[in-house]
Amino acid sequence: MENLKITKAEQSRMSGIDYSNLGFGRFFSDHMFVVDYADGAWGDPRIDPYGAMDIEPANCTLHYGQTIFEGMKAYRSAKGGVNLFRPYMNAKRMNNSAKAVCIPTIDEEIFVDGIRELIAIDHEFIPKERGHSLYLRPFAFGTGNFLGVQASLKYRFMVITSPVASYYAEGLNPVRIKVDEEHIRAVRGGLGQAKTAANYAASLYAGMQAKKEGFAQVLFLEAVTRNFVDEIGAMNIMFIIDNELITPPLTQGSILPGITRDSVLHLGRDWGMKVSERSIGIDEIHEAHRAGTLQEAFGTGTAAVISPVGEFVYRGESLVINDRKIGPLAQKFYDTLTGIQYGELEDPYGWIENIKIEEEVNA
Ligand SMILES: Cc1ncc(COP(=O)(O)O)c(C=O)c1O
Repeated sequence: MENLKITKAEQSRMSGIDYSNLGFGRFFSDHMFVVDYADGAWGDPRIDPYGAMDIEPANCTLHYGQTIFEGMKAYRSAKGGVNLFRPYMNAKRMNNSAKAVCIPTIDEEIFVDGIRELIAIDHEFIPKERGHSLYLRPFAFGTGNFLGVQASLKYRFMVITSPVASYYAEGLNPVRIKVDEEHIRAVRGGLGQAKTAANYAASLYAGMQAKKEGFAQVLFLEAVTRNFVDEIGAMNIMFIIDNELITPPLTQGSILPGITRDSVLHLGRDWGMKVSERSIGIDEIHEAHRAGTLQEAFGTGTAAVISPVGEFVYRGESLVINDRKIGPLAQKFYDTLTGIQYGELEDPYGWIENIKIEEEVNA
């Protein structure tokens, strides 16, 4: 990358990382990628040691939430080097989120090349265990200091990285989901299709209540009908009813366009399945359950890849799915996607961007 200024960390954070107990998002690697925006343009990129930033109390993002982010992973490939999965889709989605909250868009090449440079420096932080990975968190936010609701004139784009364990300690594990009629995450015409802090703030209360009641997550409903399903807090939702793969359409206006969602739909179509992006109501799910045609349900997202649902609870009534066991399609989607991500399966779709590691090449 041209004009990249690199300042190496004087002390590595590696010794502070417990690789036998990584969890998610608790440890951070040595460096971060930074680009600042001022006077109408993004400036020169740099890599700095990971560390605290000075924030003024009047920082506009603290008050008005002008901030967006992405979530993706880097995997050690069985074929050598490091794999990124569809990173240009994350770059595009980030720019769509940017437009939604008036943050200037950033060149897709800067987004992806910044990640490449960061991985070239910090690849040793990528866990070696299958299923573990380096989580990548690109984000951008207003850096102006003022009070009063208006878009900032200054911004910062950054990428930080975090070694993470597999979402599942002991394989795929079907979860209990609460169907929440009361709390709404996002509405059509709002920000649901953007990856911005407001949507996650809006989901916290419902999520906390559901956890207290013994559920793993909440299934949010569409605001007007309170019948059509939207998505789970940080995952899209899919159903298999009578051999049809069904997921709510992005046109519903309140759903994040998941990259895992898109990949599953692509695989389903490729495997000759009947695949439908259409609104699906709790009434239809209930009816399918009663008729015995609700075969599977699962969430899709970068963190878990596929998260099978063992039970929905709606108005106190329990809908148990597939005897709380992992369905064959959830398993097949999981095996195929993770196989491609870890370089164990062929990638006929061109989804993988491989980053060569100099030390491996010279070894
Ligand atoms: C609200 C929401 N929906 C869906 C997803 C799944 O998206 P992806 O498959 O790109 O991780 C995420 C995770 O990023 C999310 O935060």
